[in-house]
Amino acid sequence: MDNRPIGIFDSGLGGLTSLKELRQLLPQEDLIYFGDTGRVPYGVRSPQTLRRFAMENIRFLQSHDVKMIVAACGTISSIMTDEMAAGLPIPFIGVVKAAALAACRITRSGRIGVIGTPATIRSGSYKRIISETLPQAQVATRACPLFVPLVENGYIEETNPVTEMVARDYLSAFDGQKPDTLILGCTHYPLISPVIGRIMGNGVTLIDAGQEAARQVKEYLSSHELLAGEKEGRTRYFVSADTEDFDVIAARFLGRPLECAVEHVDVDDLCR
Ligand code: DGL
Repeated sequence: MDNRPIGIFDSGLGGLTSLKELRQLLPQEDLIYFGDTGRVPYGVRSPQTLRRFAMENIRFLQSHDVKMIVAACGTISSIMTDEMAAGLPIPFIGVVKAAALAACRITRSGRIGVIGTPATIRSGSYKRIISETLPQAQVATRACPLFVPLVENGYIEETNPVTEMVARDYLSAFDGQKPDTLILGCTHYPLISPVIGRIMGNGVTLIDAGQEAARQVKEYLSSHELLAGEKEGRTRYFVSADTEDFDVIAARFLGRPLECAVEHVDVDDLCR
């Protein structure tokens, strides 16, 4: 048994897709969420910068004595090397592997689509794991750089015409060879999954990378006897930009007000 909190981070709101699932699966766990909203978006940055951000965010979470780190971010999960993860004194879980394996299990036609940030798609991370697991799979990918700013600015309603127009343009990449399974390879994208799902049409299963990673976290903690004891788990939220903006959109996505005030972290303190 281990009653220390689980640390979860993302560039902003996206990691809430993991947090929401973790809260349901593991109600007894304490969760510490960090959204690096002062430096969002991550997906347009270089691997070197992203690796630095990853280590700074991990150090911040470690300062809260977490028992595990979840990079609830497709971009960070795509550029973290095995050596970086192995060098940490606590377990590290990203979102790419769990989502890629889920797509391989679910696809019937072997045609899998992946959407993600430019950095994620450029890294080839999802494609690599899918090809290793299901060599006959045909994988089509599309970077969707405008989705993260849309989500961070609250353009998440299903009827939002701007989100609809941008999504139609990006998703037309799959018109030729329609996948039956589409990986939402950036954890921000499930916040606009009603729009994405409607455009892709019935018969296309959407895989939520953050949700899949949360299931992997539960399995890991159970099999390593690291689950917290019976109690009501608490959540703390930290962000590196305006706390109010985060609070409002997060509450809309979670479907309830946050259980506590969002706390602020200075970006300069992360870099020290
Ligand atoms: N939610 C993140 C991801 O899964 C970060 C996106 C971004 O900041 O560009 O890739």
